[in-house]
Amino acid sequence: EFKENTAIVVFGASGDLAKKKTFPALFGLYREGFLSPTTKIFGFARSKLSDSQFKERISGYFKLPNEADKEKCSKFLELCSYVSAPYDKDDGYIELRNQIEKFETSRNVKESHRLFYLALPPSVFTVVATNLKKNVHPESKGLARIVIEKPFGHDLESAKALTQSLAPIWKEEELFRIDHYLGKDMVKNLLVLRFGNEFLNSQWNKDHISSVQISFKEPFGTEGRGQYFDDIGIIRDVMQNHLLQVLTILTMERPVSFDAEDIRDEKVKVLKAFKPLNNQDILVGQYTKSEDGSKPAYVDDETVNPNSKCVTYAAIGCEIENERWSGVPIVLRAGKALNEGKVEIRIQFKAVPSGMFHNISRNELVIRVQPNEAIYMKLNAKLPGVSTSTTLTELDLTYSNRYKDFYLPEAYESLIMDVLHSNHSNFVRSDELEVSWALFTPLLNYLESDNAPVPEKYPYGSRGPKNLSAFLQKHGYVFES
Ligand code: BG6
Repeated sequence: EFKENTAIVVFGASGDLAKKKTFPALFGLYREGFLSPTTKIFGFARSKLSDSQFKERISGYFKLPNEADKEKCSKFLELCSYVSAPYDKDDGYIELRNQIEKFETSRNVKESHRLFYLALPPSVFTVVATNLKKNVHPESKGLARIVIEKPFGHDLESAKALTQSLAPIWKEEELFRIDHYLGKDMVKNLLVLRFGNEFLNSQWNKDHISSVQISFKEPFGTEGRGQYFDDIGIIRDVMQNHLLQVLTILTMERPVSFDAEDIRDEKVKVLKAFKPLNNQDILVGQYTKSEDGSKPAYVDDETVNPNSKCVTYAAIGCEIENERWSGVPIVLRAGKALNEGKVEIRIQFKAVPSGMFHNISRNELVIRVQPNEAIYMKLNAKLPGVSTSTTLTELDLTYSNRYKDFYLPEAYESLIMDVLHSNHSNFVRSDELEVSWALFTPLLNYLESDNAPVPEKYPYGSRGPKNLSAFLQKHGYVFES
């Protein structure tokens, strides 16, 4: 189902995020037939560019493997225009409004549908949001939606301040806070997997599950983003948001329905049940040069303080104090410059009574979010044939084997589609944001204090800090022999 005649405005249109994510996502939706050809797309930024320079710039980021794609690209570019103006003056917004109205009149639009995507740093969120509301919001003549991107604050206090600065201007139902992990297909699958399968639903608790892990591994360092990262670290970059969101969906109670508020109510409830994070339950690391010397250390980046204690790897132990989870150790871990790129969830089940078996492995459910989406359950079976030995095998749902002809949208494509349909299920509500910062802020303060532990060094391209295995064992994970 199409939304017709929508005006989409991308702010920060000449910036990195817009080029790498927002415009490729809009083009992807268009290419796959999910964005109506009656849509109008505006880029808005300070850089002085002509329409054609702008189009050339964004199309440089599209993958166009064949002629058909190239043709779609030129059709898509016909929908786009560019407005160059400062963010803090009325003029550019008035110009934008005039252009949108011209488009709407030409299409005989009775009820406006306007989507404003702020691919901008938080320092200008409020000024742009204010000017948009003042000059470009259709008010009683239609609907407006505003999308903002992380970081939503640096800690609890700044996150609250941001929420409070936006709240009087834009209503919560008009506001979409993106956490792009919520747009990943496997993350969206979690609710169905958990609540749609009785064999998992009935076992999903402390009586059967012995530990939970969510891990995020990236094979590259902060390349080019050192200055941004040094002030942020891996916990703010991916853990307080992406991994915690995944964990929340993995552990919340059954929502009454798929309705956005039902889902987000449950997310907030489970977040409130987390035990405060313990400063001792953490392992931190920072990468050094690769063993062969070809890849730089974190501190080799010229924009980074050479004595930086910034954490590029963290593993955190946590626990949820409610009837379902009390006592089950949970580990979130994330690192840059590791030996591979992978995001996965690992649920380890309790051991069966050994009784008749001398040595039998535990079941483990692995949900691989990326790359190569897969769900597999480690399962014990008798070795086929005359043998009576047991073997550990897998029930395996690897998407690329099972779903050959499906188009898996990029996270951003799926989220922009949600915004077009006003579906908030996969966006972060303000109270959710607050509880997640409340959980992490004391730990972040500790890590930035004089008592902070010194990050353990690990070479670029390695598996991470040496102490990881011991840390995981301490937090309940059983390594099977
Ligand atoms: C971003 C972080 O939010 O997520 C990046 O700022 C990180 O540092 C990225 O690389 C990971 O996203 P994805 O979709 O590539 O796993």
